[in-house]
Amino acid sequence: MTGFSADWLALREPYDVSSRNPQVLDAVVTLLAGTNQVRIVDLACGTGSTVRALASRFPAAQNWRLADNDLSLLARASGMIKPPRVMLTTTPIDLNHDLEAALDGPVDLVTTSALLDLVSAPWLERLAVETLARSIPFYAALSYDGRIEMSPSHKVDNAIIAAVNKHQRGDKGFGAALGPDAAKAAIAQFEKLGCKVVHGQADWVAGPSDREFQNEIFSGWASAARETGDIELGDIVEWLTFRRDQVAAGKSSLRVGHVDMFAMPSGTR
Ligand SMILES: C[S@@+](CC[C@H](N)C(=O)[O-])C[C@H]1O[C@@H](n2cnc3c(N)ncnc32)[C@H](O)[C@@H]1O
Repeated sequence: MTGFSADWLALREPYDVSSRNPQVLDAVVTLLAGTNQVRIVDLACGTGSTVRALASRFPAAQNWRLADNDLSLLARASGMIKPPRVMLTTTPIDLNHDLEAALDGPVDLVTTSALLDLVSAPWLERLAVETLARSIPFYAALSYDGRIEMSPSHKVDNAIIAAVNKHQRGDKGFGAALGPDAAKAAIAQFEKLGCKVVHGQADWVAGPSDREFQNEIFSGWASAARETGDIELGDIVEWLTFRRDQVAAGKSSLRVGHVDMFAMPSGTR
């Protein structure tokens, strides 16, 4: 799993789509129902998965501003086959430095997915303050929440999970990352500032036939565990070999905990 490569984002997208929490999505759609034209900013858009996930849910004409600091992902987002009624613009921007610029102008909704676990507590607070100062509702999908279940089990599983969660807390460009605490922290932060927050689980669920997806995840976790230096290399190799053998044999299942949330500032429609 190489960071945010387009290949990895494409591989995970169908799992993200089926994981998105339907009640949280309904709350987003309901809030914007009755609007003729919706202006949306998608933070850390990647190749545009949030547009593809949401566009058909809004009957209104939509104007999406897609923000990311990866020019190659932005180029893919810009070239996507646009759903009906959708206008897109792309904004190359470093959200750590220039979050406020990304939110400028008339905006009805801010969205993101798979971003909050990368950001720090101070950046999350800044995001909450800046969106609320503009009275913009905020939808954040697919924040990793630290829960991992693998079947069948292996004696090194718990050490790998601990190492993955430690690695998740490293700096991903926004200061020390919230990692597995992101979802809880985001809900608490927006509630503290007076928002009504709808939230729910949005777990990745992979079964025996989801071989490529599971192999990518297990390889990424083995690399992350190695980077922490907390586990003997021999144990990591034994664990990864076991996991890959189970995947190849069609016996492996995996659940990775995620949370979706939608924060509505008081006084929004
Ligand atoms: C896990 S990917 C999620 C992409 C997309 N939202 C999705 O769900 O497919 C994280 C995204 O955050 C972007 N990103 C990371 N750090 C960033 C920063 N400082 N400024 C802007 N974008 C950033 C990456 O380029 C990548 O597109």
